[in-house]
Amino acid sequence: MPSDRTLREVAESRGFDVGAAVDADSLRRDASYRTRLAEEFSALTPENALKMGPLRPTPDTYDFRDADAIVNFGRANDTTVRGHALVWHNQTPDWFQSWDYTDDQLRTFLREHVHTVVGRYRRTVDAWDVVNEAVADDGTMRETVWYDAMGEAYVDRAFEWANEVNPDADLYYNDYGADAVNGKSDAVYDLLDRLLDRGVPVDGVGLQLHALGEWPDPASIAENVRRFQELGLDVQITEMDVAFPAGEAPDDALERQAEYYRDVVDVCLETGVDTLVTWGVRDADSWLRSFRDFSERFTGDPLLFDDRNRPKPAYRAVSEALSE
Ligand code: XIL
Repeated sequence: MPSDRTLREVAESRGFDVGAAVDADSLRRDASYRTRLAEEFSALTPENALKMGPLRPTPDTYDFRDADAIVNFGRANDTTVRGHALVWHNQTPDWFQSWDYTDDQLRTFLREHVHTVVGRYRRTVDAWDVVNEAVADDGTMRETVWYDAMGEAYVDRAFEWANEVNPDADLYYNDYGADAVNGKSDAVYDLLDRLLDRGVPVDGVGLQLHALGEWPDPASIAENVRRFQELGLDVQITEMDVAFPAGEAPDDALERQAEYYRDVVDVCLETGVDTLVTWGVRDADSWLRSFRDFSERFTGDPLLFDDRNRPKPAYRAVSEALSE
């Protein structure tokens, strides 16, 4: 049955949050974007503004303007806010390339970064993606600047440093390609198991769920969610979008996409996952249109609202699944 309530109203009435990744420029410039965000979503994630590159124009300075704008908008509209991401191998500052640091200097830099960023948003950010994508696609630890300098211990330290500054925040490990049961999610599971064994303050796992070309099997997502929950972890869907391989979209692409969104919401409701964040608001904002060669690889309409900000079949499917 079609609903005259917004998605946010439908979701909140059953204790569920549907979220969106937010772009600071669109937020400033575009009133219809702001309206959609405020009315339809109850959870926000800055898409880029809290990443180290955008935040750290020089080694000694921070630029919090974009992040502040998004976090303040979230607070003003009574949404939850997810901080993304404290430690990642991508989108590090440009000046990093030419910085000839020692391992110890890098460790000190990271500690200061985590303390400062988590500290600034102590009262305004509810959850953090503390470490993003630390596991490589083959299941080994990804060789990043952080791993090279500190070994796997960088993951432990990042969570500990975040926890020192804000023990109330929910601290997540976040990754892609680990949504269903597979070799990579096995490796993520093992990493989380080791962290918990070592007493590291990790609260949850974020499954990005970029369903690009291949869509992870819902039943297998449910099984995967449950095994993380059995470790005592919260699980959230943190960056969902749904696309076909470029040139291979069927005639009923939008309906098929809607069905997949519905299936994933059903998995959330079955397993007790209470938050699903989509990676953008309108199709036109999607990273699939601009990131690397993704526009050649995937269809560019993966979200709940179309280019003109109108709700798509996927929007109605999510709303219906949450109403049932
Ligand atoms: C993407 C953003 O959407 C793009 O705007 C940016 O150019 C690259 O990063 N996994 C993540 C996100 O954790 O931070 C990425 O976001 C998408 C994949």
